Amino acid sequence: MTAPFADGPAMLDWLRTRRSVRNFAADPVDRAVLERLIEAARTAPSSSNRQPWRFAVVTSASARQAIIEAIRIRVAEIETVIRRGHHADDYGNYGDFFFEPLANAPVIVVPQFRDYPDLIGNLIESGGGDRSQFSTAAAMHAERCSTSAAVMALLLQAHAEGLGACWMAGPMVARHDIERQLRIARPFQMVGAIAVGHLQQAPAAPPRKSVEQIAQWFQD
Ligand SMILES: Cc1cc2nc3c(=O)[nH]c(=O)nc-3n(C[C@H](O)[C@H](O)[C@H](O)COP(=O)(O)O)c2cc1C
Repeated sequence: MTAPFADGPAMLDWLRTRRSVRNFAADPVDRAVLERLIEAARTAPSSSNRQPWRFAVVTSASARQAIIEAIRIRVAEIETVIRRGHHADDYGNYGDFFFEPLANAPVIVVPQFRDYPDLIGNLIESGGGDRSQFSTAAAMHAERCSTSAAVMALLLQAHAEGLGACWMAGPMVARHDIERQLRIARPFQMVGAIAVGHLQQAPAAPPRKSVEQIAQWFQD
């Protein structure tokens, strides 16, 4: 199937237009569109093709409110502790960043991953070896990495649908409350939360490190 873009540079131009969106219009997002976001996540590569991910798609207003409230409570607790020390100014209003994008999003997606046994490590031990002497996929947290790839596909699909989205680590402060609310039980665990909704206005592009700063070339 041909790419929807004329060429590589056109694809790159489009990738550059994706933003983390933190303000949304009130309109709900169609179920068919949300299903395409999950379909997009399914296309991601994963370690040993285990597809270790799952996604809670929360559109219920009361369930969203409960998530936001749980984060607010934890943020307030964290603030109270930090303000007892000498770094209250460093923290500032950082806590707002933990839940604000969710506050007006009509959809909250909670991505989850599960670990799998370290197959190669187990095989090494079955041969009498010491797994700590070898590095395996476990060293790169392969299931969590795979789920990050799925989240990126979801974010790009949202962008292509004209939606805004913001993947957030902030909700992790209320991880146990949110997992309980959404009945996320081991072996699954949440990896942040994604605010999704119709775009109001695309924010300005934040600065990016240059290719020179991040690429290490090993060439002949
Ligand atoms: C793992 C991860 C965690 C993030 N956590 C938050 C967050 O808690 N709150 C928030 O507003 N944005 C969060 N972001 C969005 C980043 O701030 C954003 O990606 C970055 O500033 C670059 O902006 P851009 O996505 O528009 O290019 C997170 C992004 C990632 C990948």
